[in-house]
Parts: sequence; C-alpha cells; structure tokens
Amino acid sequence: MQPPKEISELLHFVMNHRIIILFSVFFWLLSQCNSPENQPSPLNDFQAPFYYGVFDLPEENPLTAEGVALGRMLFYETSLSSNNQVSCATCHQQEKAFTDGRAFAIGVSGKPTSKSSMPLNNLLWGPKHFFWDGRASNLEEQSLIPIQNPDEMGLEIEEAVEKLGQLPIYPPLFKAAFGTDEITPSKIAMALASFQRILISQNSKYDKYLRGETELSKEELLGKELFMTHPDASVGLRGGNCADCHSQFLTSGFATGYDGFKNNGLDNDENLEGGLAYVTGKESDWGKFKVPSLRNIALTAPYMHDGRFKTLEEVIDHYDHQIKDSKTLDPLMREASNQKPVGGKESGFHLTADEKKAILMFLQTLTDEDFITNKDFNDPHH
Ligand code: HEC
Ligand code: HEC
Repeated sequence: MQPPKEISELLHFVMNHRIIILFSVFFWLLSQCNSPENQPSPLNDFQAPFYYGVFDLPEENPLTAEGVALGRMLFYETSLSSNNQVSCATCHQQEKAFTDGRAFAIGVSGKPTSKSSMPLNNLLWGPKHFFWDGRASNLEEQSLIPIQNPDEMGLEIEEAVEKLGQLPIYPPLFKAAFGTDEITPSKIAMALASFQRILISQNSKYDKYLRGETELSKEELLGKELFMTHPDASVGLRGGNCADCHSQFLTSGFATGYDGFKNNGLDNDENLEGGLAYVTGKESDWGKFKVPSLRNIALTAPYMHDGRFKTLEEVIDHYDHQIKDSKTLDPLMREASNQKPVGGKESGFHLTADEKKAILMFLQTLTDEDFITNKDFNDPHH
C-alpha cells in the first residue's frame, strides 16, 4: 500500500534535503545549549589553585551563581536572629578573615559561647567535619546550627523560615536559586553552604611564591623549612614540626575521616577538654580538636579553640617549650625535639630566638589581602 500523497511528498522532501535538515537540527540543539538558562555557571568550574588538590561538591547542592547570591544575602541577614541584630557575619567578619577578634564569640544572649569563632576559607578542602570538635559532618548541616543556638542567633528554624518569607526580597531569590519561592530549612542550609564554599583564599605572598610569581626572603625561607621539618636531634636536623599536623596549612588538616583532629598539648590530663571524644565517644579522641587552616593566621587572633593565646609569638612559645603532656598528646609531638632527651620525656622543640622569629615571618606570608577585601564576599544588603 502506498502512503497517502502528502506523506510521500514529505518523505521525498526529507530525503532530498536531509543534509540541510540534519544541520538545522544540530544548530538548533547547539543554540539550546547556549541559551541563558542552560549556560554552565562560571562557578561550576571556578579556578582553584592546582596545589589545593581535588574537592567534592555534594550532588544534591550544585554550586550556582543564584544559590551563592542567596547564600551571601543570608550570611549577612540579621533577621535570622531573635533580636534582629546578629548575622553570621557578626562572628565571621571578612576583614578579620571571617573571625571576630574575640576569645569567645558573643551573639544574641550576650553570653560568651564556649568556643572561639573559626576562620572561614577554603572549606571545600580539608576535613569534612566542621566545628572544633567535628560535630557537623557537612556544611549544610553546620549552617543551621548557629541560627538555632540560643547564644548565637537564637531563632527556631521554623521562625527563621517565616521571617524570611515576610521580607519581600527573599521569595524571588529562593525562586531564582531553587525554581520555587517556597522557603525551607534545607534551602537556607544549601544556600549558606554554597556561599561559604566560594570563600576561596589563594593570593597570599606564599601562594604567589608557590606559583613562581614572587620570592620569599631568607628569613621566610628558613621559617618555611622549620615549619616543614620534623626535627631529629641525633643527626642535628632542626625543625618546628608544624607540618606533621598542619600539612594542608593553606586549607585545613588531613581530609580523611577524623585524621585532621589532634591533641596539640594545650592541657594535661586534669583539665583536658573532651573535643572530638564528644562526637566519636572514643576515649582515645579525648582532647583532640580540628587542626585549623593557618591561612590568614596573622588576622585571626586570639588563637586556639578557647582563644587562650593573644599573639602568634605566644603560640610559637607554646609549641617551643610549653607543651603539656596527656594520654592523647600527639605521638609525633611527644618525641619531636631539637634537643637530645636528657632523661624522662622531652616535650617542646626548643628553637632559638631567630628560628622562632623565622617561623613567625613565614606565618605572616599566609596573609591574603585580596581575600579580605574581595567585594564578592562582602555585605550585599547595602
Ligand atoms: C555568635 C557568634 C557566631 C555566629 C552568629 C555564627 N558563628 Fe559560626 N562559629 C562560631 C563559633 C564560636 C564557632 C566554633 C564553634 C564550635 O566549634 O563549637 C563557629 C564555627 C563555624 C564553622 C565551622 C568552620 C570549620 O572549619 O569547622 C562554620 C562553617 C561557621 N561557623 C559558619 C557560620 C554560619 C554559616 C553562620 C550563620 C548562619 C554562623 N557561623 C554564625 C561563632 C558564630
Ligand atoms: C600535633 C599536631 C600539631 C602540631 C605538631 C602543630 N599544631 Fe598547630 N594546631 C594543632 C591543633 C589541633 C590546633 C587547634 C588546637 C585547639 O584549639 O584546641 C592547632 C592550632 C594552631 C594555631 C591556632 C589556630 C587558630 O585558628 O586559632 C596556630 C597559629 C598553630 N597551630 C600553629 C602551629 C605552628 C607554627 C606549629 C609548629 C611550630 C604547629 N602549629 C604545630 C595541631 C598541631
């Protein structure tokens, strides 16, 4: 049976013009890929320094320009607090490399928190556990905790959702980021996490040195050497031993499991705080805390989870000769010394004044002025 006339004519036309039709379909498809909705976000393949290594993004929360823009608004949103005065940025201030300059942070209750606020940078790398004791296992989970903490922002999450819904600016931003203007806790979390993931710091003097764009001074190079070296007094190898724990010091500690959590000898057994042990329940994790990134460290005083050291000189003196012994003191730290042990246990590196100064100079090369002045990270509300 012959197909009806119109169809056979159509088939003829298609056969005679098949090349042109194929090309047209191809170009139409191509034009669809380039339409604005489908264009890959520049954030999907943002440039990170090659020496940072790989990072994972959660599949369920891809980085998009709209998600980051919403997250940035929320990060600076004081309506996310019970008294409308505190935002994430109260305790994470860009000019202080996203810390607050206090030993203990202060939020809505006026009562100091139990820990010092933490710097936020390069969070895509390093341990996948957040907070000094690692109790949040991803940034999404982490983001909702300060909002609800009675001493930080003090708002029930349902109230946060409701308050944002009443501000005319938010529903359209949620729609742009997630396709619907319905506000939910998990969307708030995803947007906040996205903004924090792009807080990438990569332009310190040391970065420029690694990229071959600048030189370090002789003293800074000595500091770098000491920082990287595990000392061995028996062969006269001098070192400050820092990289044993701060190996990924441009980002944060070791990324596998809880490997990036250590006891760095702040206290002896009597007054050692639980730290990681509260999360894992293991006695052997007592007194271990997250090895923080040392990037921008000159801007984030005071130091340690309880802000006990006011200056970097005090920090270096701690490692040099004030390490306290305890059951979980890091073994590499216990045996590392620049002096041959004279009976009993050695603790401390016993560096010379010049060596300590050199380590300090090296730490100062980790300051990234471009990061703390980057306009993409500051308050978008005004
Ligand atoms: C009142 C001060 C305060 C406010 C407000 C605050 N934070 Fe923090 N932030 C801290 C403190 C203190 C810590 C360390 C807490 C701990 O370890 O128990 C911290 C830790 C963090 C960490 C962990 C970093 C790491 O390397 O593990 C992230 C991420 C973070 N805050 C993001 C936020 C976000 C997002 C908000 C807003 C929703 C926020 N913070 C609001 C004080 C604050
Ligand atoms: C055994 C592992 C270990 C070694 C070795 C080590 N650190 Fe640390 N460092 C840590 C841990 C863990 C913390 C956080 C401790 C806390 O707050 O409870 C820390 C914190 C710091 C801080 C404060 C960071 C902040 O944000 O408050 C500085 C600065 C620092 N270390 C520098 C150094 C230097 C310099 C050396 C070498 C002289 C060094 N560390 C050696 C594990 C180590």
